[in-house]
Amino acid sequence: MDKLLIKGRVPLIGEIYASGAKNSALPILASSLLSNSPLTVGNLPHLNDVTTMLELLGSMGVEVMLSDDMEVQVDASSIKNLDARYELVKTMRASILVLGPLLARFQGATVALPGGCAIGSRPVNLHIEAMRAMGAEITIEDGYIKASVDGRLKGNKISFDPVSVTATENVIMAACLAEGITTIQNAAKEPEVIDLANCLISMGARIEGAGSDIIKIEGVESLAGSAFSVMPDRVEVGTYLTAAAMTGGKVKIKSAKPEYLTSVITKLESTGALIQTGEDWVEITMEKDRPNSTSLTTGPYPSFPTDMQAQFVALNSIAEGNSTVTETVFENRFMHVQEIARMGGNITLKGNTAVIEGINTLKGAPVMATDLRASASLVLAGLVAKGSTTIDRIYHIDRGYERIEEKLKMLGADIERIS
Ligand code: UD1
Repeated sequence: MDKLLIKGRVPLIGEIYASGAKNSALPILASSLLSNSPLTVGNLPHLNDVTTMLELLGSMGVEVMLSDDMEVQVDASSIKNLDARYELVKTMRASILVLGPLLARFQGATVALPGGCAIGSRPVNLHIEAMRAMGAEITIEDGYIKASVDGRLKGNKISFDPVSVTATENVIMAACLAEGITTIQNAAKEPEVIDLANCLISMGARIEGAGSDIIKIEGVESLAGSAFSVMPDRVEVGTYLTAAAMTGGKVKIKSAKPEYLTSVITKLESTGALIQTGEDWVEITMEKDRPNSTSLTTGPYPSFPTDMQAQFVALNSIAEGNSTVTETVFENRFMHVQEIARMGGNITLKGNTAVIEGINTLKGAPVMATDLRASASLVLAGLVAKGSTTIDRIYHIDRGYERIEEKLKMLGADIERIS
């Protein structure tokens, strides 16, 4: 199994390009199921989760044509079955995103229950209840969600509590082909929801309010094919910016969209970093030896993203001063804490809060990646630690970070993939 070997304490300096956003690419690929003409998706990141989504679509009979530059044409005109099998769903919870489109266009779907997950129970009740509210009959049998609808789905008022990103996306997609108007209250405001809505609008959907907490969708009879380019990955960009703040570097990231990174940039500025932005680039300069500590609480967009929490725990572990990091979106999303502690980090967990005493330096150690963002935090810890860090189970990183070691090498890091 591949590992990453990092020799730390090299300031990151240079320029890289942001990749396309995983969390935007996945629903956009699922939305191809809504049309019987091809959807061409550009700026797709080369990631295991994207491959899993393409395999899932392929297993249903969707024709997938890949070009060299990660542009993909997905053609769902010749679909053969409506099943999302457990073998694929268990590796990626976002597979649930096919439920809404399949029900809307084919009036049926069988989707494996994603089951437990390393970062909390992560149920799918909101997705199921919303589809029921739109007229679907749903039973849970043998670990599968079996859904069908007599005729078209019906528009309805759907209100989410808690706010859910993929449930909002599932309802938007389902509502595009439903009869009448669907209004989503307490909708997720994440930029990836806007990206999906823009893609659907380019296919002929009628959607208003994406990016606000009330989204209105007027169903249409059919959607056409289109060509759409995925937005930049704000979590990837935030992760590299944090790495630069920790190592005392200067990094420019191009093809980024800093307007979606406000909460992260504000926190990085409070660590003492200087941040400059243009419309599609962001540059960080960190002149201090160690960042100032910065306390934070995660929350739905535009609050600080839970997907950046682990990286900031790593930053705070070597910061000047003490801090608290509170996780409000997912239970049990602190598996990185134990691993950072193996590197000397002084972190105590109190319920959903990590209490962190910043120390001078971490020490390299063998550590284990436990989930996607936790593994990113271990890479950051390794980049700043004295000596060598080996990170095991990096398939978690490959789910969400495109060519992470190549990008870090371009910034001068001493990092290699070993088996
Ligand atoms: C998405 C992102 C993930 C990010 C998360 C929160 C994708 C593919 N993944 O995940 O990277 O960390 O948003 O920003 O976009 N919940 C329920 N019932 C449900 C669904 C969710 O109770 O049916 C709860 C969850 O347990 C969690 C909260 O809602 O506590 C938010 O989760 P949600 O926004 O649904 O996360 P995902 O969409 O799975």
